[in-house]
Amino acid sequence: MDCIVYPVSGLQGSINLQGDKSLSHRALLLGAMAKGTSEIENFLLAGVTKPMLNAMEQFGISWEMKEKTLIVHGKGLGSWKDAENSLDCGNSATTIRLLAGAMAANHTSGILDGSEGLQKRPMDRIVEPMQIMGIQIHSTAGHAPLILQRSPFPIRGIEYELPVASAQVKTCLILSALAADSPSQLVEPGPSRDHTERMLNAMGAHILSESEVENYQKKYCITVMPLKDELKPLRMNLPGDISSAAFFIVAGLISPHSQIKISQIGLNPRRAGLIEVLQKMGAEYSIQNQNEQGGETVGDLVVNASNLEATQVNGEVVVCMIDEFPIFGVAAAFARGETIVSQAEELRYKESDRITMLCEELTKMGVDVTEQADGFRIKGNGKVSGGEVCSHGDHRLAMALMVAGLAAENPVCVHGAEVVNESLPEFIPLMRSLGAEITCRD
Ligand code: S3P
Repeated sequence: MDCIVYPVSGLQGSINLQGDKSLSHRALLLGAMAKGTSEIENFLLAGVTKPMLNAMEQFGISWEMKEKTLIVHGKGLGSWKDAENSLDCGNSATTIRLLAGAMAANHTSGILDGSEGLQKRPMDRIVEPMQIMGIQIHSTAGHAPLILQRSPFPIRGIEYELPVASAQVKTCLILSALAADSPSQLVEPGPSRDHTERMLNAMGAHILSESEVENYQKKYCITVMPLKDELKPLRMNLPGDISSAAFFIVAGLISPHSQIKISQIGLNPRRAGLIEVLQKMGAEYSIQNQNEQGGETVGDLVVNASNLEATQVNGEVVVCMIDEFPIFGVAAAFARGETIVSQAEELRYKESDRITMLCEELTKMGVDVTEQADGFRIKGNGKVSGGEVCSHGDHRLAMALMVAGLAAENPVCVHGAEVVNESLPEFIPLMRSLGAEITCRD
């Protein structure tokens, strides 16, 4: 599908977003490992979550959607059946990496595979530590398909330093460690999202942070205690996805005369790096109605059109905005001055190589951008000319480029825009409800 986005004179209104992608994956998976019925309101039903929902049927876990609420009938840890057919994880790295950990904890065998794009993404990062734990998992030269076999031996606890900060890897190992014969310690080089730890603790597990372990000094270290009792079922209303909100936030900032309210989005500090960086750039926004839901901070964000100044992004904040770089690149293109992103090499291993692809596509729209090994530089003068660009099958790149069209001098035509259905099927209708003019054709 090709979509043309026309320059807009201002976006106005208030929107609600579907549930957070990371929380949706975890709520489904942990609900399927718990004993009892979990009820998850505002579950994200989209391309990225369908493979995990389909996989549940093969493991013998039943679920149903009642309007926007997902009901999962968990039968307890160890109750999953072996998967007879290869499990198609689609394009979702979260699905394949989290399912591998959950299958190990349930002593379930099966083959995990996915799209051509998914087969390119690194899987050694989970396979190596899982093998150290005694789990029978094998990759195909470091990639999917992954083969998991039931092991005759118990899973061993592990002390492991992750080479990269990754919530997917951490979660895979946490889930495996729940069924281990001794506690595990996982150390990360940065603050990756901690939704798994929060949700598991709310369900009765014991995942301790470094401050709860005596004499343990390392930063970003968690201790996972093996489960003694079954996980309690989950009841949670999922907040809107801050990574989806990011497109509306930047749209509101760069389109003149705009004011947008995004209600009840997740504001977990390990996800809110973009807001921190945009504030430094001069973004005008406010947070209202802040509250807690299921251990997660939630609030309404109101954003106003602003004049943005360039900035530098590196260090720990990179992890806290890891999915937001495509849309951040657009914000930087509209800012004045040179923005420099570094220490962000991990962007090369996402749904596309987000450094190369972002630079290529912004260049097509007349942006002065230079690719670097671990990031990019963008020289902005407050203007972007527009033009024809491509999503490269990456949902976040597609939405970021469409947002650029709202404030460019000429329309922006995005090829391959159907990929927005992966994480935000409502993207185009929501943008239109705020006043955007978007035309699409197959
Ligand atoms: C996710 C973690 C991030 C993120 C992905 C979702 C998760 O990946 O990019 O979209 O739900 O755990 P990494 O943790 O591998 O960086």
